[in-house]
Amino acid sequence: MGYLLVEGGHPLSGRVPVEGAKNAALPASVASLLTDEPVVLHRVPQLRDVSTILLTIGDLGKRVIRNGADLLIRGEGTLSGEANPYSVRKMRASFLVLGPLLARLGRAVVPLPGGCSLGEGPVDLHLRGLEALGARVRAEKGAVTAEADGLRGGRIELPFPSVGATEQVLMAASLAEGETEIVNGSIEPEVVDLVRLLRKMGSEIESNGRTYRVAGRAALHGAEHTLIPDRMEAGTLLLAGAISGGEVTVEGVVPDHLRAFLDVVSATGLRVEEGDGELTVLPSGRPSPVSVETAPYPGFPTDLHPPLAAYLSIGTGTSRLAETIFEHRFTYVDALRAMGGRIAVSGRVGSITGVKGLRGSSLSAPDIRAGAAIVLAGLVAEGETKIGGIEQIDRGYASIEEKLKRLGARIERQND
Ligand code: EPU
Repeated sequence: MGYLLVEGGHPLSGRVPVEGAKNAALPASVASLLTDEPVVLHRVPQLRDVSTILLTIGDLGKRVIRNGADLLIRGEGTLSGEANPYSVRKMRASFLVLGPLLARLGRAVVPLPGGCSLGEGPVDLHLRGLEALGARVRAEKGAVTAEADGLRGGRIELPFPSVGATEQVLMAASLAEGETEIVNGSIEPEVVDLVRLLRKMGSEIESNGRTYRVAGRAALHGAEHTLIPDRMEAGTLLLAGAISGGEVTVEGVVPDHLRAFLDVVSATGLRVEEGDGELTVLPSGRPSPVSVETAPYPGFPTDLHPPLAAYLSIGTGTSRLAETIFEHRFTYVDALRAMGGRIAVSGRVGSITGVKGLRGSSLSAPDIRAGAAIVLAGLVAEGETKIGGIEQIDRGYASIEEKLKRLGARIERQND
């Protein structure tokens, strides 16, 4: 698959645009299953995860035409109710097709994402939400079959504001008969962006804090929608500037979406300037230690935990990073340790004791965000860092090496 080679020690400088949000593109593509009419999406990032979701909906009967960052998704013939196991196993977000297919067809079969079982696995809230709309759900041979003779409105109170479960229920409820109430739903900007698209498609959704009320419709229509910018890419690129000791401006962002992140990095002493739709980090020296806990929006996003950890690893003291969303978030730790980082993990809390410098090493990206953390560490490390597993990074960052190169980084993609 190839690898990235990073030569550390070169401060970045310049301006870089941010793509549309991956985690808005995925549910928006799935929402096209709710109608036969065309759905046009703009600012769609060129990412592996987006290709995966487009393959999934293509297999289900949609025709997808891409022109750069613009996407036209059209209905073509009948929709299939059985999702391709390959793409669902590859990416958890593909499971979102269950609700829309069930709402359209009355029956849907979707494989469980990687190794989880019904009731206790990490899609239990999705299934409880669909059951609240009258679906009968069962798991057989690693797949979920959901059936309903027409969905009807219901009430679901989520024990935790799950992003995916909120999206799943919002989409299914848009085609249910009567009103649905979602209590303690996610208010991540990407969920709010899906709500904007669903409203354009004719869904009546009211929101009040974490409560959503959806008045179901018999049918939805086509729509045209521009996705919000990717706050995770923006945060990662800002940290790339910061860790390298450079000056970097990210363009086309919504600073408010990054508020918790900006509060934390400012507390480390990083100087950040805010402009109209742009953010700039200025050279600020090594970061001071901070104590951070990830949380659902508007809290500090779990997806920026690993990149932040890379930054704090060259800090001037011991930072505390508590993970409350994803148990397996600390996949970056071994790599940063191999580069000279001092990190101890106890349960869901990481203690990062800053060191003066990191050193290049040969590593592999275990997942999207840990991969980004390793790239950032490589930018400041002494010598060369070789990063394999770049298909993980490509899932969530569009040509990361091109963007960093534009900013003056010494980084190359090499094929095996
Ligand atoms: N969970 C359950 N049961 C459920 C659903 C979730 O136990 O039915 C648990 C999960 O196992 C996890 C936590 O709740 O521990 C958070 O899950 P959530 O449903 O909120 O997240 P998600 O929809 O699976 C999205 C993003 C993630 C991001 C999280 C949290 C997409 C496609 N993915 O995942 O993004 O970390 O929300 O904000 O929107 C990434 O981009 O790298 C990424 C992992």
